[in-house]
Amino acid sequence: MAHTVTRTGWATRFGLIMAMAGNAVGLGNFLRFPGKMGPYGGAFLIPYFLALVFMGVPLMWMEWTIGRHGGGFGHGSTPGMFHRLWSNRISKYLGIFGILLPAMVGIYYIYIESWSLGYAWHTVTGSYWGKETQAEMGSVFAQYLGIGDGAISFNPKSYIFFLIAFSLNIVIMTLAISKGIEVVAKYAMPALFVLGAVLAVRVLTLPAHEVTTMVNGAEAVTTFSVSDGLAQMWRVSDWSVLKKPDVWMAATGQIFFTLSVGLGMVHTYASYLRRHDDLTLSGLTACGTNEFVEIILGGTIVIPAAVVFFGVSGMQRTIEGGTFAIGFQALPVIFQQLPGGQFFGTAWFVLLFLAGLTSSMAMFTPLLLFLEDELSIPRRKAALMIGVAVFMLMQPVILFMHHGLVDELDYWMGDFGLVLFAAIEITIFSWIFGMKKGWKELHEGADLQIPRIFYYIMKYVTPVYAITLVLWYVRSGLWNKIIMKGVDAADVPYLWLARIMILGVATFLIWGVWYAWRTHPKFFKSVKSKEDAA
Ligand code: ALA
Repeated sequence: MAHTVTRTGWATRFGLIMAMAGNAVGLGNFLRFPGKMGPYGGAFLIPYFLALVFMGVPLMWMEWTIGRHGGGFGHGSTPGMFHRLWSNRISKYLGIFGILLPAMVGIYYIYIESWSLGYAWHTVTGSYWGKETQAEMGSVFAQYLGIGDGAISFNPKSYIFFLIAFSLNIVIMTLAISKGIEVVAKYAMPALFVLGAVLAVRVLTLPAHEVTTMVNGAEAVTTFSVSDGLAQMWRVSDWSVLKKPDVWMAATGQIFFTLSVGLGMVHTYASYLRRHDDLTLSGLTACGTNEFVEIILGGTIVIPAAVVFFGVSGMQRTIEGGTFAIGFQALPVIFQQLPGGQFFGTAWFVLLFLAGLTSSMAMFTPLLLFLEDELSIPRRKAALMIGVAVFMLMQPVILFMHHGLVDELDYWMGDFGLVLFAAIEITIFSWIFGMKKGWKELHEGADLQIPRIFYYIMKYVTPVYAITLVLWYVRSGLWNKIIMKGVDAADVPYLWLARIMILGVATFLIWGVWYAWRTHPKFFKSVKSKEDAA
C-alpha cells in the first residue's frame, strides 16, 4: 500500500493515547451513560459489553486503520480517506458524514460543556447553596439557561461561560496537533483521573441514608447504602428487560457515542500517525481507558450516589427528568448535604468540563483538515472561518434550546447519523476495501497481534450488526421523526431551523468535495497509479 506523504504528527505515544482517550472520554461517560443505564439496572451491561466487543472495538480498529492509511496520502478527513479505500466517485461524498457529524454535534456539545464551567464557578462561589431539593435545583438550572416565559432562552452570565469554552476550543484547534490537542490531553486526562478517583472514593465511603419512598401508596422510610447503589449498577434484577429492543439500541448507541466511533474524529487523529506506528495496542489502550472511566469511575460516582440519597425509584425518576437532571440537579443537592460539599461539587463540574473539552476539541478537526488538505486554505484562515461559522450556528442552539433544537440536532447527528455513517464505513472497509487488505493494514507496525477471531467478527458480525441497526432505526420511528409526529406546533419551526442548519453545512461540504476533486493536483493521479509509483 502506498504512503506518499509524511505529516508532522504526535510528539509522543503517551500524548497520542491520552488524546485518543480524551477524544472518547466525554460528557457521554458521566451524563449520558447513567441516563441510558439507570432505567434498566445491571441488565443494561449485557448488551453494552456485547456491543463493545462486536461493534465498538472492531469499529475503533477500523477507524484507526482508515485514518492512518488516508493520512499517508495526505488526507485528514474521511472524503479523501474513503476515496483511497474505494475509487468509486461516490466514496468521497459518503465521507462527508465524517466531517458533518462531529461538527454538528460540536455545535451543541460545546454549549453543554460550558454549563459545567459555569456550574464549577457557581459551586466555588456557593451561589446556589441553600437550594436543597431537586425541584429547587431544577429552577436554578432553568434560570442558568435563561429559560422563562420569554421567546428566547438567554442568560448573559451563562453566556460568558459559553464564550470562554468556545474560545478555548477554537484556540486549541488552531495550534499544531502536538502543541495544542496533545498538550491539553496530556494534562487534562491525568487531572480527570485524579478528580474521578477522589469522587469515587467519596461516594464509596458515603454513610447509609434514610429516604422516604412510596410503598403501596403509603409513605415509608427506607435506608439505602452504597451497596444498594452498586447493586443497581452491577446486579441483574430483571432479566426480562433484555427482551426489549430498546435496551439493545440504547446500549449500542451508547457504545458508539462514548467511543466517539461513527463520527469521523478518530480518523482525523489517526491520520497524524506514521506508517509503522502501532494501531492495535494503542487503540485498545485508548478504548480501555474510556471504558475504565465510564464504567468504573462514572459508574461508581453517579448512579450509586443518586441511589443513596434518593433511593432506586427516586434515581430513576430523576433520570426520566432528562439527560442533564442527574448531573446538574441531583448531584448538586447531594453535594450540599456532604461535609466539604463545595470541594466535591467543584471537583465534579471541573471533571465534566475537562471530559467535555478533551472531546470537543476533536470535533472540528475533521473540518479544519478538510479545508486545509483538500481546499488548500491555510490553517489559521481555516480556523478563523470555522470559528465564525460555528459561533453563528451556536446562537440558535443557545437561544432556542427550550424549543427542542438540540434534541433535533442530537437525533440526526449524534444518534441516527452516527449509526448510518458507521454502517457505511464498515461496509467500505470490510467488504469493499476487503478484510484481507484491511487486516494487513491494521497489523502494519502492530505491537499486538489481534486474535484471528476478530478477522471474522470484522468481516461478518460487525457489518451485519451495523446494517441491522440502520434497518431497525428505519423501522422504529424514523418516519415519525421525519414528519415530526407528536411535536408541539410551537416547536416545529425550530426543528426546521435545526434541519436547515444541517442541510446548509452538508451543502457546503458537497460543494467542497466537488470543487476539491476538480481543482486539487493531489487527486489528478488515480489511487492505482500512486500505488504503482511507490
Ligand atoms: N465520546 C464523547 C463523549 O462520550 C463524544 O462524550
